[in-house]
Amino acid sequence: MERTLVLVKPDGVYRGLVGKIITAFEDAGLKIVGLKLVMPAKEFAAQHYPADQSWYQSLWEKTKKAAEEKGEPFTETPEQVGERVRGFLVDYLANKPVVAMVVEGNNAIDNVRKIVGATSPSKADPSSIRGKYATDSYDLADSQHRAVRNLVHASDSKETAQREISLWFKEGELISYKRSDEEAMFG
Ligand code: CDP
Ligand code: MG
Repeated sequence: MERTLVLVKPDGVYRGLVGKIITAFEDAGLKIVGLKLVMPAKEFAAQHYPADQSWYQSLWEKTKKAAEEKGEPFTETPEQVGERVRGFLVDYLANKPVVAMVVEGNNAIDNVRKIVGATSPSKADPSSIRGKYATDSYDLADSQHRAVRNLVHASDSKETAQREISLWFKEGELISYKRSDEEAMFG
């Protein structure tokens, strides 16, 4: 069984969607093994989103593709997109309520990202959390100089899951237990 970090970002908390978001994971058979409401300081938010070149590259690719699909010119470098979006994200999380949780289950990292949906809510599948509860897009967010409001963060690989879980939770804050339906799901 795998573990992954999920955050309900401030827009999700302010909109009262914490329960529905947790339910989406629980309903799929995933298990909450750590949970808290926190108000991250700016320095902590910056640690959650480190200046990582490969992440900058993937942010650049997604953002460029979205601009090209809209027929808009796109001239920023990966470094420029990365630094700009990272700045928006740190401001988006800092000193605001965030629910942090560790979700455990079979292929938890990929299954959680499938339930969360694509980064831009406008493009996310309507049955995903981002597609069901939001409509924001890269171009609107960019024009307002802010991060895309997409309700949820979810780790994107085994390495980031490990790093992010240990950033947000101490060993003793994670609790192992059996769900009563585990036998029916996997027995
Ligand atoms: O969250 P996810 O892993 O789907 O996307 P990401 O590529 O790791 O980007 C992290 C976050 O940056 C997104 O969830 C958006 O909130 C934000 N973002 C943005 O504000 N503007 C962009 N052009 C790209 C991403
Ligand atoms: Mg990501």
